[in-house]
Amino acid sequence: MDLKKFVEIVPDYPKPGIKFKDITPLMNDGEAYKYATDQIVQYAREKEIDLVVGPEARGFIIGCPVAYSHGVGFAPVRKEGKLPREVIKVEYGLEYGKDVLTIHKDAIKPGQRVLITDDLLATGGTIEATIKLVEGLGGIVAGIAFLIELTYLDGRDKLEGYDVLTLMQF
Ligand code: PRP
Repeated sequence: MDLKKFVEIVPDYPKPGIKFKDITPLMNDGEAYKYATDQIVQYAREKEIDLVVGPEARGFIIGCPVAYSHGVGFAPVRKEGKLPREVIKVEYGLEYGKDVLTIHKDAIKPGQRVLITDDLLATGGTIEATIKLVEGLGGIVAGIAFLIELTYLDGRDKLEGYDVLTLMQF
């Protein structure tokens, strides 16, 4: 299936010059959403994962159906102040300033094989921070899966040594 047909490119959003990749048409189409999910579930099987971890908010949209279908749990990575119990946190750089991502301290058991999911690999900052959280709790990053990779932003350079699946490249 040609998944790119289901990604709407929105010019000048959220800022002038940015071509936003909107995945809501893909999620809106049952067959396309299932097809994309199934590709990642197949990858999860190959990597023999025990848990899926995804950053808010679109990492949940990709990761939760994969976790359900594969029969493993899902742990959310969230911005600071959103998780109610004890967390570990990582700061990461944004274009201007920095942000903080957190995960519950008991979300991962040491040695668990984790699949990280998100909709989009851009600069790789979000996923690099997510990897630090997973490894900080003793998890093994068995694979990282995205719907979309923006190859011109070289996010993969931050993921050297990790196994990465991307379903579409722009
Ligand atoms: C977007 C996207 C990825 C991240 C990719 O999320 O969903 O998580 O940016 O960018 P990077 O590779 O340069 O880090 P955003 O921070 O907009 O959060 P949202 O999903 O909650 O809207």
